[in-house]
Amino acid sequence: MALVTTKEMFAKAYRGGYAIGAFNINNMEIIQAITEAAAEERSPVILQVSAGARKYARHAYLLALAKAAIEDSGIDLALHLDHGADFDICKSCIDGGFSSVMIDGSKHSFEDNIALTRKVVEYAHAHGVVVEGELGKLAGIEDDVNVSAADSSYTRPEEVEEFVEKTGVDSLAIAIGTSHGAYKFTPDQCTRNADGILVPPPLRFDILEEVGRRLPGFPIVLHGASSVPQDYVREINALGGKMPDAIGIPEEQLRKAAQMAVCKINIDSDIRLAMTAGIRRTFHDDPSLFDPRGYLGVAREEVKKTVRHKIADVLGSSGALDR
Ligand code: G3H
Ligand code: 13P
Ligand code: ZN
Repeated sequence: MALVTTKEMFAKAYRGGYAIGAFNINNMEIIQAITEAAAEERSPVILQVSAGARKYARHAYLLALAKAAIEDSGIDLALHLDHGADFDICKSCIDGGFSSVMIDGSKHSFEDNIALTRKVVEYAHAHGVVVEGELGKLAGIEDDVNVSAADSSYTRPEEVEEFVEKTGVDSLAIAIGTSHGAYKFTPDQCTRNADGILVPPPLRFDILEEVGRRLPGFPIVLHGASSVPQDYVREINALGGKMPDAIGIPEEQLRKAAQMAVCKINIDSDIRLAMTAGIRRTFHDDPSLFDPRGYLGVAREEVKKTVRHKIADVLGSSGALDR
């Protein structure tokens, strides 16, 4: 078993009408939870590392933990840089043993995004590493960058062929209405259903369809795809947390995207919610607890449960390792 690129995973996912989960990692418990869930579901999986995660846990630890997870789980893993902001961070991850990097040039002009992405692709491909690019701008928070809904913009399908052709990227992240973080929509952007539950605006499947038509067989990526499970939000709020109006992407819409051209779905916020709910519950149930293994162990189980659910019911990738 080894660290692998996403090339074969995506080709199989495209053909099979499912998506691979790309889950953000920040510590040992999260890595164990994701890889144990994937191994039990017999599903391929991508571990992804943001600049913030690299700063928090440090590159050497995350790489060593990912390698330990391969040995322990017995499955291949892809290790991916999430939202690489410039050439230097991509180079550092390529030189440092990652199998995949994202260069996020979405804040630049179309031409500058192409030039930057092309430069990363040339370096990455020369080192056997694959590259994800991005066109369009998601709303929400990544690291210290907060993109307001007004500054976000959908991907323009008429740009995708030129971008892919000129850059040589292996996959493309697009903006169709998802958003980073646990507050993807404000209540006034939503409608209420008959039970009074807030329903967010639907994803722009027309854009996804058009992109898929223009790039047949090419893997598309969805960022900001947490569904922000309301059970966790309610539990966190009931146990002293403060997450008013946290709202995510309905899982049926992600399931639909996974059956289309979307081959990679990024999930971070739902892991954070699972951990936080587990830890709050543990402290609430046993105020005398002070052994970190007590609350981190519960948090790890909660993340594992969430990842298994995503793989089985949202991504549709259960059993794919055996097909
Ligand atoms: O897209 C952003 C991911 O959720 C990573 O978040 O930058 O806080 O680690 P982070
Ligand atoms: P969420 O905040 O919806 O989990 O998105 C994570 C993400 O896109 C990481 O790149
Ligand atoms: Zn993202």
